[in-house]
Amino acid sequence: MTLRVLPGGRGQPDPPGLMIVGAAEIVTMAGGPRRGSAQAEVDRHEEAAVGGRESDRAPVVTAWDGRIVAVGSRSDVERFVEGAGYPLERFARVDAAGGTVTPGLIDPHTHLLFAGSRERELELRQQGAGYLEILEAGGGILSTVAATREASAEALAAHGRRWLDEMLGHGVTTVEAKSGYGLDLATELRLLEVAHRLGAEGPVEVVPTWLGAHAVPPEMRGLPDPTEAFVRSLIDEQLPGVAAQGRAVAADVFCERGVFSADQSRRILRAAMGFGLRPRLHADELAPSGGAELAAEIGATSADHLATPSEAGIEALAAAAETERPVVATLLPATTWFLMKDHHAPARTFIDRGVPVAIGTDFNPGTSPTPSLPLAMTAACLNLRMTPDEVLAGVTINAALALGLAEEIGSLESGKQADLVIWNVPTSRQIPYWPAADLVRTVIKRGRVVLDRT
Ligand code: NIG
Ligand code: FE
Repeated sequence: MTLRVLPGGRGQPDPPGLMIVGAAEIVTMAGGPRRGSAQAEVDRHEEAAVGGRESDRAPVVTAWDGRIVAVGSRSDVERFVEGAGYPLERFARVDAAGGTVTPGLIDPHTHLLFAGSRERELELRQQGAGYLEILEAGGGILSTVAATREASAEALAAHGRRWLDEMLGHGVTTVEAKSGYGLDLATELRLLEVAHRLGAEGPVEVVPTWLGAHAVPPEMRGLPDPTEAFVRSLIDEQLPGVAAQGRAVAADVFCERGVFSADQSRRILRAAMGFGLRPRLHADELAPSGGAELAAEIGATSADHLATPSEAGIEALAAAAETERPVVATLLPATTWFLMKDHHAPARTFIDRGVPVAIGTDFNPGTSPTPSLPLAMTAACLNLRMTPDEVLAGVTINAALALGLAEEIGSLESGKQADLVIWNVPTSRQIPYWPAADLVRTVIKRGRVVLDRT
């Protein structure tokens, strides 16, 4: 079986229509973002083939011009499609061969673009070095910053394409990509421009986020109050430049004790909101730092990591969840795994308290060098004790909510973008069950087959 990223994903005109047949199951995730007990609600269409023949009741999904037309039993969908005036003969049939069909996965938190690698830190941590200790010694994020500042836009784009292809191979059709390895305006703009360009190239859609406040740059570390000086320069100089460029749609801050305080994060995010950027945060990753509380206070679209939120932070997110604009708890269990932590984000508490939960990879060269969202799904099941159905909501409709895109992607519903994956397993519950297996058969982005392993 060979992996082919089809040219259709990179510029071919839309095929007219698609009908996916032969699925054992189609999971639509229809019904909007999930929270509380609804986090486990999965809209499953299934009908066993009788006597080896596909019945009229077998589930199919149809798309036209890049959008979902209808999902349901074959007879109902065919009737609907013809009744609505679509030429049924122009729907190319794609055989799911007894697999499951899900919405395209959405990775709501990655640091896609960087140069170099940091395998040495794995060994340092094995010997007992702490993550922030390595950073303070000039390694960690700062070593990636040094390599990234040296990298050309072309080199960063080549790196980005390589890892986006990997992600696509794991069923991911939309990826959030943070800057943050520049710590200066020129490099940050280059990272955001490349992220935008890769998304425009396709097939994977890329949502660029400005993470200006990722660490204090080396050139400022000799100043009397380096963090404060950098925060001021971020607000006064970098942010206006980023806003003028117009590529970033969100702003993120590494709000963590010893990195950027909740107060500094508030000032940066409020300023970013003034430029129309959606606020989100790296919150309470290593220690309770007021991140969850701040996310609720400013109405962040997402609070990420949350491995160590305070009681007050959990309360604040639970209260926000009752409003019209809940903060999504975007949990990143591949990171706690890779950092060898035995403390994990309290996913069950978030679900019990009605907070919508999303799952991401946190793909980055330091704390989570995996591009595989299905692997993060497995970690969510094992370490966060989420069920496979809850996790599926976390990488589809809730991940779309974390990116402010829940109206467009994340579920297979009439009118939404036709992003979907055919998997070589008969039920979505098997996606996290076979860790590190290549389960993707076919990926469709905006109605085009962009990867085919048949
Ligand atoms: O999400 N914690 C901050 N940022 C990343 C790690 C970045 C790095 O180590 O290069 C994270 O874990
Ligand atoms: Fe991160």
